[in-house]
Amino acid sequence: MMANPAHDERLKWIYGSKTNAELEERYNQWADLYDKDVEDDLGFMGPKIVAAALAESVDKTSKVLDAGAGTGAVGEALAALGFEHITAIDLSPGMLEVASAKGAYETLQREVLGETLAFEDDAFDATICVGTLTVGHAPRSSLDEFVRVTKVGGLIASGMRPDHYETGGFKQKQEALENEGRWTLVSRSAPYQMMPTTEPELMYETWIYEVLV
Ligand SMILES: C[S@@+](CC[C@H](N)C(=O)[O-])C[C@H]1O[C@@H](n2cnc3c(N)ncnc32)[C@H](O)[C@@H]1O
Repeated sequence: MMANPAHDERLKWIYGSKTNAELEERYNQWADLYDKDVEDDLGFMGPKIVAAALAESVDKTSKVLDAGAGTGAVGEALAALGFEHITAIDLSPGMLEVASAKGAYETLQREVLGETLAFEDDAFDATICVGTLTVGHAPRSSLDEFVRVTKVGGLIASGMRPDHYETGGFKQKQEALENEGRWTLVSRSAPYQMMPTTEPELMYETWIYEVLV
């Protein structure tokens, strides 16, 4: 299937947001159509692939933070794998409302990545973030909070485009966290197609780190 011009327009509109307030409002407006556009029509594979990678190394009883949960595709994937204690956070209440209806999350709350999260240190056994460490969305400083709220020995899994890893400052940030002894790399996948049927040239990577402090 080819990409649909309406989707291209919607993605341009989202990525054209200049502030978090604008991004929040645009995601609120998109929330009801998001699953149809991104999961059904575009066939975004990130949530299932990154959730499956995390599930290989984390006990199903774990408390998992889904950061930038959107409409809950990651939560659904984790719930299908047997996870029951998942917390969703997102900038957009509209997206969280759709996520809530899926029944995969124990808790859902509005939080802004890049700011201090309203969780205690070590609150989670694992953190997962898919589709949100991207252009104009969550900044690289979000990773500091992922490390803080994830227990020592816990895992942080993320899905990201390799081009944004290089150009969005994530390479420097991820290496800095490693050099500071705050986390260590467990695995970095080979690049894979994030939307194989509609945008075969767009690649994605799954990263998993273990928290050290
Ligand atoms: C492309 S969607 C991905 C949603 C979901 N993780 C998935 O894979 O289907 C990106 C989500 O990130 C949220 N988002 C963007 N910037 C954010 C920020 N700074 N803090 C929290 N959420 C943010 C948006 O509201 C949106 O729901």
